[in-house]
Amino acid sequence: MLVKVVVLTGAGISAESGLATFRDADGLWQGHHVDDVATPEAFHRDPATVHRFYDDRRRELRSVVPNPAHLALARLEQVLGDELLVVTQNVDDLHERAGSRRVVHMHGELLSALCDSCQGRFAWDDDLGDAPACPGCGNDTLRPDVVWFGEMPYDLDVIERALVEADLFVAIGTSGAVYPAAGFVRMAALAGAKTLELNLDPSETSHLFDDARHGPAGKLVPEWVADVQALSR
Ligand code: APR
Repeated sequence: MLVKVVVLTGAGISAESGLATFRDADGLWQGHHVDDVATPEAFHRDPATVHRFYDDRRRELRSVVPNPAHLALARLEQVLGDELLVVTQNVDDLHERAGSRRVVHMHGELLSALCDSCQGRFAWDDDLGDAPACPGCGNDTLRPDVVWFGEMPYDLDVIERALVEADLFVAIGTSGAVYPAAGFVRMAALAGAKTLELNLDPSETSHLFDDARHGPAGKLVPEWVADVQALSR
């Protein structure tokens, strides 16, 4: 039996690959102020600092690999095909490297650059801090293609349609602290979906889920995917 499944992932799914989350102890927001690196105002005020932060994050991607949780979601796509959509808040490319194809990056991607002049988006795996020319218009106005606080996430229309049609909504490795993603569980539930949280600890929105399992994603996600695979046979 195929079901329509929407999986929302957050930084917790990439933690076991070695990428820091935002709000855990030693998280990125412990060492940096959001207002210094993750707002359009910060970029306007001090582009060098903002570029350094994201250039470091982009370089870090070269030394990490997908973990069993990413790999399990890619296996799930083999079973469910178009009936699965992964919506990620993560700007890393670990879902894609694990083999997932139906992935929406609602907060943008480190491996993409956005031009403030022509609004073009370009695949990018190099630093941006040395003011490279935009491949579209030639201006030196490229910025990280990352959605900052105060900006509109990408593809909300696609996501909302999928949530309304979903039979099952699963949130993995996200604290439930940032909207609109934190509101997806309510939206899916109101439209009739069952909801499941897989997270290290209870998130801020844990109480809104029908079922919540707590532990590392590298263990919980493969277990859950195996259950779905067994039901789909
Ligand atoms: N397995 C499962 N969950 C984990 C693991 C793990 N190994 N390690 C940490 N977690 C959980 C934490 O318990 C926490 O609830 O992952 C969650 C990470 O929360 P955040 O750091 O807040 O990350 P996220 O929810 O993705 O943040 C949302 O905030 O700053 C912005 O744009 C940024 O996309 C990000 C958004």
